[in-house]
Amino acid sequence: MISIKGLYKQFDQLEVLKGIDLEVEKGKVVVIIGPSGSGKTTLLRCLNVLETPTKGVISIEGNSLDFSKNVSKKHIASFRRLTGMVFQSYNLFPHKTAIENVMEGPIIVKGEGKASARKKAQGLLEKVGLGDKMTYYPAQLSGGQQQRVGIARALAMEPKVMLFDEPTSALDPELVGEVLKVMKDLAQEGMTMIVVTHEMRFAQEVADEVVFMDGGVVVERNKPEEIFNHPKEERTRKFLNMLQ
Ligand SMILES: Nc1ncnc2c1ncn2[C@@H]1O[C@H](COP(=O)(O)OP(=O)(O)OP(=O)(O)O)[C@@H](O)[C@H]1O
Ligand SMILES: [Mg+2]
Repeated sequence: MISIKGLYKQFDQLEVLKGIDLEVEKGKVVVIIGPSGSGKTTLLRCLNVLETPTKGVISIEGNSLDFSKNVSKKHIASFRRLTGMVFQSYNLFPHKTAIENVMEGPIIVKGEGKASARKKAQGLLEKVGLGDKMTYYPAQLSGGQQQRVGIARALAMEPKVMLFDEPTSALDPELVGEVLKVMKDLAQEGMTMIVVTHEMRFAQEVADEVVFMDGGVVVERNKPEEIFNHPKEERTRKFLNMLQ
């Protein structure tokens, strides 16, 4: 269970998140949609504590961070490990093979032994359909394959929650499906996921709930069929009309 309470984030004069409240139950998939600049990426980055929120409380499975108080670097580092983040750009280490990319986190951050990290990485790459590409370098992989390595790399840290920030928007259209398939499988296995995406079909098929953000607030949240067919708020309606 994730709970976000009164989350604010300000960059200099610009207030980007203006009091986000959101809960995500364990095993559920929440898709976040909203116009460019509405704060979607900032929200995910706050959850992964890549950004420090100005104030607010984030709790993930009993672990809490209250940003109104001073929080130690150590606490932030351990909190960060609760979430695994998949970015729009894959950010793989170019000089490491697929399997080395997946092994890196557990070895460096968790101090795991090389042999067991390798074994786990193998299993994860097989899971994302890359069992035959383990020793390839990123440059030898397609965008879709690189993104699947990115997913395996995040999973290797055994996070409680997976955060996806437009994981398919940098991909050629024919490669989008293979990444969405991996994400769908993960959802079906019961992974808790927060996904920012423009893939409305994915949202319709996989999301338990869709959250519409605009101007740094949650405007509306509901089951996908409700949001897409009967949006309650004018701003949601306008945004969805624009997509068609
Ligand atoms: N590090 C930063 N410093 C200053 N301003 C920032 C920073 N990161 C984001 N912003 C600003 O915060 C606002 C929200 O950005 P954010 O990236 O969260 O939006 P988004 O909803 O993810 O948009 P998109 O759909 O285009 O990805 C924007 O106005 C952006 O310029
Ligand atoms: Mg973004």
